[in-house]
Amino acid sequence: MQDPERAHEMTVLGLKIMHNSPFLCGLLHRLNRNSPNRPIELFGLKFPNAVGLAAGLDKNAQFWRASAAMGFGHVEVGTVTLKPQPGNPRPRLFRFPAEEALINRMGFNNEGAEAVAARLKSAGAHRFRPIPLGINIGKSKSADLSKTAEDYLASFHHLADYADYFAINVSSPNTPALRQLQGHKYLPGLLQAISQANLNRAQKLGLKPIPLLVKIAPDLNYEEIDSILSDVLELDYDGIIASNTTVERPGAFSRVNEPGGLSGKPLHHRAVQIIQYIHNATNGRLPIIGVGGVSDVESAGRMADAGASLVQIYSGLIFKGPYLPSQISRALAPRHENWV
Ligand SMILES: Cc1cc2nc3c(=O)[nH]c(=O)nc-3n(C[C@H](O)[C@H](O)[C@H](O)COP(=O)(O)O)c2cc1C
Repeated sequence: MQDPERAHEMTVLGLKIMHNSPFLCGLLHRLNRNSPNRPIELFGLKFPNAVGLAAGLDKNAQFWRASAAMGFGHVEVGTVTLKPQPGNPRPRLFRFPAEEALINRMGFNNEGAEAVAARLKSAGAHRFRPIPLGINIGKSKSADLSKTAEDYLASFHHLADYADYFAINVSSPNTPALRQLQGHKYLPGLLQAISQANLNRAQKLGLKPIPLLVKIAPDLNYEEIDSILSDVLELDYDGIIASNTTVERPGAFSRVNEPGGLSGKPLHHRAVQIIQYIHNATNGRLPIIGVGGVSDVESAGRMADAGASLVQIYSGLIFKGPYLPSQISRALAPRHENWV
């Protein structure tokens, strides 16, 4: 069997070729154009449909125009860290086709904030982005926990000119200690520092602040989620992305001995539970982007029913292919009226 990461790299290569060809993007876009989508307005942005590409596939912002042409209504690039880093040794990506699941321990392999910013600039992303472009930022592996805010802030400053929203990633399981940032000891300080930098930048440039969201893990208990929600609401963050991959090994996965984050179908139930919990706890006041095991119209609908305003897909795309975003967004379109 082909190494899953090799297969993944071939897909990314195809998407990069498309990204650089206005002709191919236009063609694919026309194939997806007959969707009756109605835009969704959320945190001051207009999303052409409810289905986005989750972080982790386009880590270095290499094919976001191709993602738009594929029918995604937004794309979240990254995770980008301040320093370029190679990630963990291979193999680090494992496929479970029967379960439509992946385990990964990539470890934030990415080219670093400066290089990603340069690529976005040369692609003209400071002037025009066909769909909202979220940039997911995370902690460099080498940054000490006590220096985390500076590390995120430097990435924020490199990338801010290209971001329609920022996702503050404190939830990937493959960077040592990263998830500790979700706790009350670190989170308020980190979120406050980024929010302040965002407000200062907006004031200086006469722009609106960039929407800020926090991406959380599915392995938190409800007390921990409450603590995050109170920080997020107090600091006026714009939303939550729930959720990242899980370190739990439900069902048959209890026998799988590969460390890393599990995604895809086995994550879905927990992700929906968390969305429902956040929706109830905040009386629907805090926008939620739902992610985790969205693999068809039904699973996307469950997230919407639980309170998600938008959904994102990663594993589903790997197992179901490139028509999935359009299929789901078409089916969800008639519900948008109730979402906004
Ligand atoms: C190979 C792989 C790499 C990922 N890398 C990132 C990442 O860099 N940053 C991040 O926030 N989430 C990352 N994720 C998590 C996804 O964005 C998503 O939250 C998770 O996979 C659940 O969605 P899914 O079930 O649709 O895959 C990654 C997931 C996979 C499978």
